[in-house]
Amino acid sequence: MSTRRVAVVTGGARRLGRHLCLMLADRGYDILCLYRTSEPDARSLVQDIQARGGRARSLRVDVSQRGEVAEAFENIREHEGRVDLLVNNVGNYNPQDVTLLDPSVWDETIGANLSGAYYCCYHALGLMHDGGQIISIGMAGLEGIRANRRGADYYVSKTGLLVLTRALAAGYAERKIRVNMISPGQLDNSVDLPGPDEIGQEVPPLARSASRAFVSDWR
Ligand SMILES: NC(=O)c1ccc[n+]([C@@H]2O[C@H](COP(=O)([O-])OP(=O)(O)OC[C@H]3O[C@@H](n4cnc5c(N)ncnc54)[C@H](OP(=O)(O)O)[C@@H]3O)[C@@H](O)[C@H]2O)c1
Repeated sequence: MSTRRVAVVTGGARRLGRHLCLMLADRGYDILCLYRTSEPDARSLVQDIQARGGRARSLRVDVSQRGEVAEAFENIREHEGRVDLLVNNVGNYNPQDVTLLDPSVWDETIGANLSGAYYCCYHALGLMHDGGQIISIGMAGLEGIRANRRGADYYVSKTGLLVLTRALAAGYAERKIRVNMISPGQLDNSVDLPGPDEIGQEVPPLARSASRAFVSDWR
């Protein structure tokens, strides 16, 4: 078993996930980057981390497929033997109007964002010592209660993930496993980010997007 802390980041090859992998590697974690389609990005991420003196591997897995998630964590059990931190970063966002939402898209979003996160939690917890951590990235809170025509599948999945997060936090409290969810608001890479003139109405009160540096206080 590895003597170093191991972090598993889903959707880790690009954008926010990549930033998280690099930041966690700099903090001394060995990184398992799970990706689905972004193989070249995953490969270059591993190289970047190794060039900075860290350790990383990548694994291809569609998190909506139970069997693939089980295989990925079996691979981690064989190689690293532990998981100290799981970051559920996968987040398929589909800004479709609810009147046009196709059931196949619904299934895909719920499968990736909610069921996939649960499969990863389930297997990661089996490899986690007391004191481990699970962090899910979301967009939960207000969107769970206010009417919004766009992105219903996404907001249902992320609100469900919040319910799961609270249940796991209660269920694993005795083992001091910290389970929480971060809702960063619109990031500086958001496809929905309003222009500078409108951002004050959309993202009050600071009138600016969240920076990917929001993770700077993670331990
Ligand atoms: N961007 C924002 O403004 C914003 C705001 C609030 C919250 N968030 C949340 O922050 C997280 C990251 O945001 P982002 O914009 O960086 O995400 P993103 O680029 O849209 O997606 C992250 C990764 O998810 C992976 N993915 C999607 N479906 C998958 C599946 N079935 N199995 C495995 N991997 C899958 C993709 O991996 P591959 O590329 O390998 O296919 C993708 O690179 C998400 O959870 C999102 O909901 C984002």
